[in-house]
Amino acid sequence: MNPGVATRVAATRVLDAVLHHGRSLKTTLAAALPALADPRDRALVEAIVFTALRQHARFDAALAQWLEKPPVGRDSELRALLYTGFAQRELGLPAHALVAATVDAARALGRPHQSGLVNAILRRAQREGLPEVDDAAAWPPWLAERIRQDWPRDADAIFVASARAAPMWLRVNPRDGSRDDYLQRLTDAGIDATASPEAVDAIRLATPLPVHDLPGFDAGTVSVQDAAAQRVADALPPARGARVLDACAAPGGKAAHLLERDPSLRLTALDIDPRRVRRMQDTFARLGLDVDTRAGDAAQPADWWDGTAFDAILIDAPCSATGIVRRQPDVLLHRRETDIAALNKIQSDLLDGLWPLLIPGGTLLYATCSILHAENTTQIQAFLARTPDAVLELLGASFGHDTGFGSQRLPGELGMDGFFQARLRKA
Ligand SMILES: C[S@@+](CC[C@H](N)C(=O)[O-])C[C@H]1O[C@@H](n2cnc3c(N)ncnc32)[C@H](O)[C@@H]1O
Repeated sequence: MNPGVATRVAATRVLDAVLHHGRSLKTTLAAALPALADPRDRALVEAIVFTALRQHARFDAALAQWLEKPPVGRDSELRALLYTGFAQRELGLPAHALVAATVDAARALGRPHQSGLVNAILRRAQREGLPEVDDAAAWPPWLAERIRQDWPRDADAIFVASARAAPMWLRVNPRDGSRDDYLQRLTDAGIDATASPEAVDAIRLATPLPVHDLPGFDAGTVSVQDAAAQRVADALPPARGARVLDACAAPGGKAAHLLERDPSLRLTALDIDPRRVRRMQDTFARLGLDVDTRAGDAAQPADWWDGTAFDAILIDAPCSATGIVRRQPDVLLHRRETDIAALNKIQSDLLDGLWPLLIPGGTLLYATCSILHAENTTQIQAFLARTPDAVLELLGASFGHDTGFGSQRLPGELGMDGFFQARLRKA
């Protein structure tokens, strides 16, 4: 199969799996991309898939207008193929090339009888353009409603930011030189980037790049991490040599940042998922960090804790990921309303289970990449009400909106992801 057709076939299969079969975008892409040898082909597949998922409500509206019966059931793959075509148009690919390659992909997918239809629909999209829909239309109605309730003044900006591609942020390892030094290395390599005024180790690239094209990436000089997540190291800062628990640590970005800033920390990095623990070990190996990694359920310390209390605990809790829809657009397809109550239970079990492991005077930082009050401010309010020796400490305006029970950065603000943090001191 020629590469032009192979990329459209791969994008269609990934989209079909994610849109119609409940598969996760990250794992489906990770399985599909290695089959394409040329990094430019892999980048094109990613671009098509992300564009189609971000704009699926718009593409749906086009099919509803242009087809008597939009494709369903065994024809769901046809829908995914048409989305692949629409996405290429949005990416600005030349009309002739995109129509020809997508029609050829219909044949390669064993749908020669539908190639005429694909040709006609894609030509119509070129002629008439795709209908405009509100960015909120990409959100399931129950979730859009929650966002409007929780953030009445900011909801529209949240929907807009969540429909756009996120910038690529880097975290510079201070052990390998200053951020200014690294900015100079980027400039020398012809890579356009700017420093974040808020996150002191963060650099924002003007255009995303494959990580291996970054000077010093393989040597651990730099990592990829959103600037909002980098503020955890500012919110927590453990004292030198402190005993720290990162309770939900994989794939290890925040633990690595803490250790890059202060290698004297005695850090335990725990995660419930053994496969993710192995990924985290790879991260630490690339960065040359020696970390005590463990697999276990943080809410059940009897299974993994040695009985020595921690000076600081980070709970980067599993959550709805509603703050990072721009990076994981499939969140809007897969999230169910019942998930939120289940996540709330895990989050409160983690808070209750880990609080006794903190020394008096110690700090617990609770963080999520959610923008729902139920997982953030309400969770902390309830924890404070049932935990008499927990005291909330203010983080300051540079961490985002003060919700009364923590700080919320909303998606897109200062180019950052949506992220919540609350710092609790043990009396
Ligand atoms: C938001 S991610 C953590 C990201 C990580 N802190 C970083 O910066 O790279 C949440 C993690 O919590 C883990 N997790 C979920 N429930 C857990 C539990 N009960 N105990 C420990 N880890 C858990 C998940 O496997 C997942 O890796």
